[in-house]
Amino acid sequence: MSTSTQIAPKQAPQQNQSLKPLLEVAPVEFAEKFSRTPFLIRHRLTDHPLFAIDRLLELAKSLPEGCLEYNAGQLPVNCDPSLTPLNGLSAEETIERIATCKSWMAIKYVENDPEYRDLLHRCLGEIAPHSEPIVPGMTQAQGFIFVTSPGSVTPYHIDPEHNFLLQIRGAKHIHLYDGNDRTLLDEVHLERFYSDEHRNLKLHDARIDDGWKFDLQPGMGLHFPVTYPHWVQNQDEVSVSFSITFRTPDLDRRRALYQINHQLRKRGWTPPPVGDHRLRDTLAYTLFRIRRKLLGTAKSDCSRSCNGM
Ligand SMILES: [Fe+2]
Repeated sequence: MSTSTQIAPKQAPQQNQSLKPLLEVAPVEFAEKFSRTPFLIRHRLTDHPLFAIDRLLELAKSLPEGCLEYNAGQLPVNCDPSLTPLNGLSAEETIERIATCKSWMAIKYVENDPEYRDLLHRCLGEIAPHSEPIVPGMTQAQGFIFVTSPGSVTPYHIDPEHNFLLQIRGAKHIHLYDGNDRTLLDEVHLERFYSDEHRNLKLHDARIDDGWKFDLQPGMGLHFPVTYPHWVQNQDEVSVSFSITFRTPDLDRRRALYQINHQLRKRGWTPPPVGDHRLRDTLAYTLFRIRRKLLGTAKSDCSRSCNGM
């Protein structure tokens, strides 16, 4: 099924002037930090009926099985995805028993439901005026809802989208690390990630305190720059979070360049890091696009396995 939704500022739903904005964004801080460093925003979704457990249960029942991902929630920070334990419950049972079943659940691509799509587009319509001057071409609006038991841990990983995580209910500690620190996240791991290997990474004990730590409470939202590593620990209550994400054309270029370097490295070359040689990157991406067009192999990773927040 198609899981991506196109959205652009000019196409974003018109704001009903009688409604308050859903998000509170500080324009100067957004301009300074977006895509470079995490920052907090505020939102007005904590009492929104689309995040009531009964409505989430209805959503989970209505979406295809591939849009649901769930497992036991009490995991280590470093977790081999092939060893992630299941919780022995159905998706519906997981939501119904989320307070006690020690589980983690992601409801993916919620834009397939018209009501959630409208909410997602309305939120991103408020982000677009701020993001477009920095990374133009907002597209592939996708929403993810995470429903997690008290104490659950989401292992250390990276994600490919521009993302704002809006905390609806409960609280989370977010441990977020500088994605430009190549001693934490090197070129080889980025190449593997963009070549569809799993997003989980290994965080060495000595580096665990080297990132930002955010105490995300209901009504708060956090910006995750693309591929900034993170792991998440729920606090003592059930948590519901809404992740609003989008892509931009520069991310397609970034993905392609890492895929090219992955192929070169597999053939024994040592390619220069992406971004070190602008002319080389431009030439490589141009050739990549020509080849992709000739072969008709345009590929999207929008059906990714979602490790979530
Ligand atoms: Fe994540």
